[in-house]
Amino acid sequence: MSSIGLAVIGAGYWGPNLVRTAIATPALQLEWLCDLDEKRAQAVLGRYTTVKATESYDRVLADPAVAAVAIATPVATHFDLVRAALEAGKHVLVEKPLTSSVAEGAKLAALAERSGLVLMCDHTYCYTPAVRRIREFIRAGEIGEVQFVDSVRINLGLVRSDVDVLWDLAPHDLSILDFVLPEDVRPVAVAAHTGDPIGTGRACLGYLSVWLSTGALAHMHVNWLSPTKIRTTVIGGSRRTIVWDDMNPAARLMVHDRGVDRIPGDSLTPDDRRQALISYRIGDMQVPALPEREALGAVLSEFASAIAEHRPALTDARAGLRVLELLEAASRSAENEGHRIPVNMEAGN
Ligand SMILES: NC(=O)c1ccc[n+]([C@@H]2O[C@H](COP(=O)([O-])OP(=O)(O)OC[C@H]3O[C@@H](n4cnc5c(N)ncnc54)[C@H](O)[C@@H]3O)[C@@H](O)[C@H]2O)c1
Repeated sequence: MSSIGLAVIGAGYWGPNLVRTAIATPALQLEWLCDLDEKRAQAVLGRYTTVKATESYDRVLADPAVAAVAIATPVATHFDLVRAALEAGKHVLVEKPLTSSVAEGAKLAALAERSGLVLMCDHTYCYTPAVRRIREFIRAGEIGEVQFVDSVRINLGLVRSDVDVLWDLAPHDLSILDFVLPEDVRPVAVAAHTGDPIGTGRACLGYLSVWLSTGALAHMHVNWLSPTKIRTTVIGGSRRTIVWDDMNPAARLMVHDRGVDRIPGDSLTPDDRRQALISYRIGDMQVPALPEREALGAVLSEFASAIAEHRPALTDARAGLRVLELLEAASRSAENEGHRIPVNMEAGN
């Protein structure tokens, strides 16, 4: 396979990670790094490089050596930049969230599909060995039916000037949920409460609930103000429970053979049935061995493979759109004192 000419757009916080990873990806040939601040792009590349720095996006899109772009600019710029790239016939990897609204995201998804181009969303966590293993566990039925998901993603984070904490951090948890749930399980409603206790003018902490079509409930806590960094997700199943602690490299995943069962009450008298028929299982705990691999390498490999194989990427624009549906509903809920907002979503991938 000959390598695919790539340009990275955005040399701020995240763009340099794409640059470093693209250089280490054999299927890609990094040609350009573009930023409105060309000096910043030059500083990221250093002196000893053949990769070109520019402030001109038009110049990048006009270069026939560029078949694909990877966009790491602020969310509000995604729509225009992605659209221009697709119209120029380039494949696109765009950072999360896909765009600032469902309407914009839907236009881009349709444009990419009409043009036969790959439009992939960088849902980075879906490419971690831990999340891949969680997806395998759930989809193989090994934890049984998902009963609850409880996720905490809090740390002392950068208070962003363009988006609130829901739009900054919750895309991670929502994209993970979308990725790991069985295909026939989908969100049906969302509620969110947010807070801005230091008066920044935007939410710095948020609590988000997502009801699933099976009756299960997922809850996410995202927060920029916590001095301790916690990244833990518990996925409770009818057979087993997975605990994912991303801050614990020695045991990122723990699978507990523990759970709570309801004993079927069909053969019981109405009086007995009225009582809670609950039994608790206490079994072993396993720590699956996981490779220590940087997710971004897998993101860029998947982007290159999807282009070469003319297929949608694992986290395509449709996955990005499903995340946007939930984010928009969450914002609407937060503006309405946490009211439950129904969502009508297609099934996941
Ligand atoms: N996948 C992840 O884990 C992850 C982590 C952090 C950020 N992100 C995402 O990456 C994106 C960028 O975030 P960031 O923290 O790097 O932002 P940032 O503000 O640090 O950097 C953005 C850069 O884009 C440049 N830029 C803005 N408009 C441009 C344009 N029209 N053309 C070229 N360059 C332009 C700016 O000059 C700046 O250097 C966001 O979508 C964010 O959500 C993803």
